[in-house]
Amino acid sequence: MAEYTRNVNVPEGELEVLDELEELDDLEDAEEALDSEEAAPGKQTRSSLQAPFQSSLFPVLFVDRDMRIIYANSACEKLFTGFFSLVGNYFIDVFGKTFAVEDIRQIRQTIISGAYGFSWKGSTQIKSRDMASVQTRVYIFPAEMGAKAPGEFVVMFDDVTEENKRLLRAVFLSLLEASKLKDNDTGKHITRVNFYSKCLTEELFGSGVPAYMKIDADFIDNIGFLASMHDVGKIGVPDDILNKEGPLSDWEWAIMREHTKNGAFILSTYPDPMAKEIALSHHEKWNGSGYPFRLEGEMIPLSARIVAIADVYDALRMERSYKPALSHEVTVQKMIEGKGSHFDPSLIEIFRCIAQDFQEIYEANRD
Ligand SMILES: [Fe+2]
Ligand SMILES: [Fe+2]
Repeated sequence: MAEYTRNVNVPEGELEVLDELEELDDLEDAEEALDSEEAAPGKQTRSSLQAPFQSSLFPVLFVDRDMRIIYANSACEKLFTGFFSLVGNYFIDVFGKTFAVEDIRQIRQTIISGAYGFSWKGSTQIKSRDMASVQTRVYIFPAEMGAKAPGEFVVMFDDVTEENKRLLRAVFLSLLEASKLKDNDTGKHITRVNFYSKCLTEELFGSGVPAYMKIDADFIDNIGFLASMHDVGKIGVPDDILNKEGPLSDWEWAIMREHTKNGAFILSTYPDPMAKEIALSHHEKWNGSGYPFRLEGEMIPLSARIVAIADVYDALRMERSYKPALSHEVTVQKMIEGKGSHFDPSLIEIFRCIAQDFQEIYEANRD
């Protein structure tokens, strides 16, 4: 039996899985059957099996019986560009960490033992810091149909990233539309807050500061969508409080502050916790004087600290029934005055560097 080349990045638990795979009892019989079949006349060559997939729209790999990748078509190379190098490496070394552990245990056992017609199907999620996640369904089946012990297998990927994202976001955009029916003075505010938040986050991503290493391509993509949801909980605030002209009484403020918790509740089914974090914590302040929980400093999720800057900048720029619109320069000055009290001081420093981008976003998306 061929030996696996072990990738130093494969975690300990997965090495154990590899050992288990190598010890499968029924593999010996299958190996013998393969040997006799290789000598059989009329067997299709590897290249003739691969040829139909070369220009296929579907990303396709070929693996041998040891699950070493022996071929990748151009669609597959394109799908995983920047994530992995494929041909010559073992499938489990390349993709092992992207599957559930139970799936890793089953894949080779299933396709070699002949259970389910030497085939397997499942799903995987591939991510790196620089690129947004790729979610795929995975289908594995024999390269040569009818073989008693297939020597090669086709691994076909179906990229469902965009489809899943579109469906998910359509549902949450409907919630946002519902909340906008109640909160009628927001105009393009929520669109701008998305843009500012994404802009500031991209700057943090490129800064190389260790505190921001958790920011990856998914974080940027998510905050550019989820920042707009920060006030979705206002759907639960009575109209006469939400639209009241003039100052709110103490008990009216108490009800208004509940929009943070309501928003977190509404967004609790969103798969990324960032949705809840933004809704719940966008009114927290760096010095612990915010609401709903008076969180302090880095106890406040990074996403919420970013959205707080975006939200307040835009609120200051906008004219409201109780206040005039402020110029960009005055707004920036007020934001800087909030450094270390309202806002994360290091985020405000970065905001100060890119404030002109905020101004451009505001001008390009005026109500
Ligand atoms: Fe809010
Ligand atoms: Fe807002």
